[in-house]
Amino acid sequence: MPAQIGVTGLAVMGANLARNFARNGYTVALHNRSVAKTDALLAAHGDEGDFIRTETLEELVANLESPRRVMIMVKAGGPVDSVIDQLVPLLDEGDIIIDGGNSHYTDTRRREAALAEKGLHFVGVGVSGGEEGALLGPSIMPGGSAESYKALGPLLEKISAKADDGTPCCAWISTDGAGHFVKMVHNGIEYADMQVIGEAYDLLRSAAGLEPAAQAEIFSQWNEGELSSFLIEITAEVLGHVDAATGKPLVDVIQDSAGQKGTGRWTVQSGLDMGSPVSAIAESVFARSLSSQREIRAVGQQVLAGETTEVTLPENFVEDVRQALFASKLVSYAQGLDMLTSAAGEYGWELKLDEIAGLWREGCIIRAALLKDIMAAYKGDAQPANLLFTPAFSEAIAKALPAWRRVVAIAVQLGIPAPVFSSSLAYYDGLRRDRLPAALTQGLRDFFGAHTYRRTDKEGTFHTLWSGDRTEIAAEDTH
Ligand code: 6PG
Repeated sequence: MPAQIGVTGLAVMGANLARNFARNGYTVALHNRSVAKTDALLAAHGDEGDFIRTETLEELVANLESPRRVMIMVKAGGPVDSVIDQLVPLLDEGDIIIDGGNSHYTDTRRREAALAEKGLHFVGVGVSGGEEGALLGPSIMPGGSAESYKALGPLLEKISAKADDGTPCCAWISTDGAGHFVKMVHNGIEYADMQVIGEAYDLLRSAAGLEPAAQAEIFSQWNEGELSSFLIEITAEVLGHVDAATGKPLVDVIQDSAGQKGTGRWTVQSGLDMGSPVSAIAESVFARSLSSQREIRAVGQQVLAGETTEVTLPENFVEDVRQALFASKLVSYAQGLDMLTSAAGEYGWELKLDEIAGLWREGCIIRAALLKDIMAAYKGDAQPANLLFTPAFSEAIAKALPAWRRVVAIAVQLGIPAPVFSSSLAYYDGLRRDRLPAALTQGLRDFFGAHTYRRTDKEGTFHTLWSGDRTEIAAEDTH
């Protein structure tokens, strides 16, 4: 029997997705550059379903039913192009190449356009959920043509996570690179989510003296309420874990420099390009970068003053921190979703934000109870200009606001960096501010560069003759 899907690239994500397809009743053709990996997979898990072992891409393709579906699970970048180049001569019109890695969406757009010219479908698929998700049910974000989804969607939906109501956490996102774009933004939010958790931990530890074990309890409790989410749940696990070698909390033994593969950075770069203010996500990327400058930080510890102000912590400081975390988290989701709206305009994608929030409800790293409410916020005709403007969220933030301000003030007074707590608050205050100092920025730009400005009291574009008699003239818009 020919296989319904072929997977090439059997590192852990590829292997687990292949197993997931097989466990769901599909026949899966397997290929890896070194056959040893294919054999290892078959030896360990060959009894989980119907696999076809192949040694070459020719053999892989020859074992697939039509239209052929070939999933590439190799490292993003050059390796993806190289596998595509090898596959193209082997495929027929209407066949589908699927890239399930974390590829940059602009690469996906380029590849999709190039393959469409050859009559092939190219589908960039965002897959979230880590190794376990890939095996047991990830959240899946496919882009590519609507036509390709007809042949591919049912398989992806079958292996995806399911929400409480049974809906698959997989839906066609939109054309070309939309799936990878949405996955990228998911990861940007993931960065901010983890950073706000880190800031809460740091404040509870450094300001309130709560040790990791005690905090494990706190995070477990938080996981019962509105913060309920995978990342809060595993925070309790990590904080509660004791290092076998030293007997210390593991978190005290792990080097404090965060790695990053690049998707958070890409989110911020795209946000900058589109003029979308993803400040919380940016701060979370920068926080990782700063953490990695270990040698520079070592000097900073010696030479930089650290004078702080004494503060008396509010009685309910732990609850204050929880609220600050929740409000900051909402801001990062709002910023991520705002970026999706900008991208939809830029690339002509019809992004359904309710559906996207819906498929993040289970399977992915940012899965959280909150996503149900985010989904509801964008249901039907309700398309708020910003997530925070929907009553459910504006009220939630209003409730958290006093605590959020107290926590940011305390962090500043004690010299505990809380870049996402504070930049999210600045974003929130920026959104609600009547007059921003951007008016002065415009005045300055006009002064040194004749960049012109608009007035609040009449239409048109103006320039003040700063180096002349300082009268104002109507001007060409150089805004
Ligand atoms: C997911 C994760 C996954 C991966 C990140 C890690 O959704 O399953 O986001 O894609 O763990 O790439 O990214 P960093 O190495 O950049 O933290």
